[in-house]
Amino acid sequence: MINKIALAGCGNVGTAFLELLHKKRALLDEKYGFKFEVTMVTDLMKGTVVDPNGIDLAAALDMLHKKNSFKGFPQFDGSFVETLEKSEATILAEVTPTDLKTGEPGLSHIKAALSRGINVTMTNKGPVAVAADELQKLAEECGAKLRYEGVVMSGTPLIDMLRHGMAGCAIQKIEGILNGTTNYILSQMTNGMTYAEALEKATELGYAEADPSGDVEGWDAAGKVAILAKIAFDKIIHVGDVKRTGITDVTPEKIKESLAAGYRVKLIAGLEVTPLGLYAYVQPKEIHISHPLASVEGATNAVTITTDNLGDVTLIGPGAGRTETAQALLTDVIAMA
Ligand code: HSE
Repeated sequence: MINKIALAGCGNVGTAFLELLHKKRALLDEKYGFKFEVTMVTDLMKGTVVDPNGIDLAAALDMLHKKNSFKGFPQFDGSFVETLEKSEATILAEVTPTDLKTGEPGLSHIKAALSRGINVTMTNKGPVAVAADELQKLAEECGAKLRYEGVVMSGTPLIDMLRHGMAGCAIQKIEGILNGTTNYILSQMTNGMTYAEALEKATELGYAEADPSGDVEGWDAAGKVAILAKIAFDKIIHVGDVKRTGITDVTPEKIKESLAAGYRVKLIAGLEVTPLGLYAYVQPKEIHISHPLASVEGATNAVTITTDNLGDVTLIGPGAGRTETAQALLTDVIAMA
């Protein structure tokens, strides 16, 4: 069977996904029996290309790399639903920018796909934070699969580990660094860069959200906390209910003072079972240099999960980045197929 992949959103992550698919076509077939064509790519800025028989991926990537646009291809000028139907897609990869308040436009794209029985993978955090339960139910009703490994810790397989690797464990606490941009900024500020320079570099490297205030004010990490609350504790926590402080008030002086006293300032996100219920937070904390989280630098994320049967398990790996996040889409499409 040929898997027909539709891609919604072709920024850093979408482009990297096309690159990975192109580079790994032979391996995907040989190792997993995964045969595919990309039949649709749509991006607000770059244009819309559809071909149910398969877009020429090499030519599309060449055009993206040289012109950052698909406008040289014949354009399809229909609504998202018309485009999706014309593409005959069996899988939608949804990587449009995150909106943690409404989940849109991704939420509508995903509903349109699931309701047509099309499997969905996404790295867009908004739809999961806003409507994980509703989407899961819709997927089940329509006989479609839904995966979103990349919404937390990019391609580092935290969600798969929580769902499958730790099946049967009771989780008591999750604590860690869940935002790559802020960890990168704090690391670079420790090395003498200014906040503004570090934020600019994080944006250039593809770590930051389209609107980076979501990162530095802690919204992105709060969205991830809300997602993990559902996966690890089966509890619905709204992003706005996560106790949240970002890094905008962390000064270079504060970082220097902490360093001199043997601490590193890190934006810590967590969930903890308390007698009053599940406590969810994001806040800058001073972490002693002897603690494993203190040495987690740059866009790397790390999370320690406290369980009954395994004690503490710490997972460290990329938390952001174009190829690192595209890897999550790849693992999802292989798993779904
Ligand atoms: N902006 C996010 C981060 C991207 O910096 O962690 C990955 O979710």
